[in-house]
Amino acid sequence: MASQDLTVYLNGDFLPICEAKVPVLDRGFLFGDGVYEVIPVYGEKPLRLEEHLRRLEQSLAAIRMQPPLTDTEWTAIFDRLISGPADQQIYLQITRGAATKRDHAIPAEIAPTIFVMCTPIAPIPLNGIKAITVDDIRWDRCNIKAITLLANVLLRQDAVDQGAAEAILVRDGRVLEGAASNILIVSGGKIITPPKGDTILPGITRDLVLELAQGLGIPTEERHFDVTELSNADEIWVTSSTREILAIIELDGKPIGDGIPGKTWKILQSAYQDYKQAAREACPNQLCHPGSS
Ligand code: PDD
Repeated sequence: MASQDLTVYLNGDFLPICEAKVPVLDRGFLFGDGVYEVIPVYGEKPLRLEEHLRRLEQSLAAIRMQPPLTDTEWTAIFDRLISGPADQQIYLQITRGAATKRDHAIPAEIAPTIFVMCTPIAPIPLNGIKAITVDDIRWDRCNIKAITLLANVLLRQDAVDQGAAEAILVRDGRVLEGAASNILIVSGGKIITPPKGDTILPGITRDLVLELAQGLGIPTEERHFDVTELSNADEIWVTSSTREILAIIELDGKPIGDGIPGKTWKILQSAYQDYKQAAREACPNQLCHPGSS
């Protein structure tokens, strides 16, 4: 949880979170008109920063906004907000800004609202989680990391109400992703995950897990699968920047595999922890990418 004296960035200023205020006519507040990023930080270095900033640019372009800051400017802000070597997460949000009146159409002259904070990463449940499958009620542009998250909020709450930690979204018979995560299954000795497109967020952790698996010689496949294949999978994982790789040990009340995190999860979990440790120890610059020159 953010403490009251946490220093945050808002539109050029660094100030205590309790003093960071946004006008009520901000289009983020009125319309959910904005985009965001969540970037994990290990050893004071944002992991896969380059990838997060490129995805941010894609989200901005998709909602007809220009990047308001350069990579160097973002990096300078992050440097000021990251506090100490403990694992933490950067949350950054850009809205279209405060208008002079409420009107759906985009105003010609408007300055974006830019907000950044850095907070601790919550402990990750290594024993696995329960999940449920639900109908995907989101829109058709799920590849945009939009702050407009009402559908995701309601779907996640459906899971929580049923004693589960994540909702797995299904549309037109296809399993797509979690309410706030990507999904991967292990079946027939392969790691399978839905392909990128308008129906999923192109997850940075998803890509990293696929890369790590390929480096370990574990076959991977990007293709669609249905709920039957999902529930019959040997292992199910969900991935995200803040929750890494979580094993799903129970789906819709039935155990997956042996009802404990599976053997392929253990291999990838270990590779992911090694990758994080390499990130902590390496990368003098901020565009952290262990293993690359
Ligand atoms: N959410 N899909 C959705 C719908 C997400 O919200 C997220 C992450 C992901 C995973 O993306 P990545 O690996 O790049 O974090 C997939 C963030 C963490 C959030 O909203 O807090």
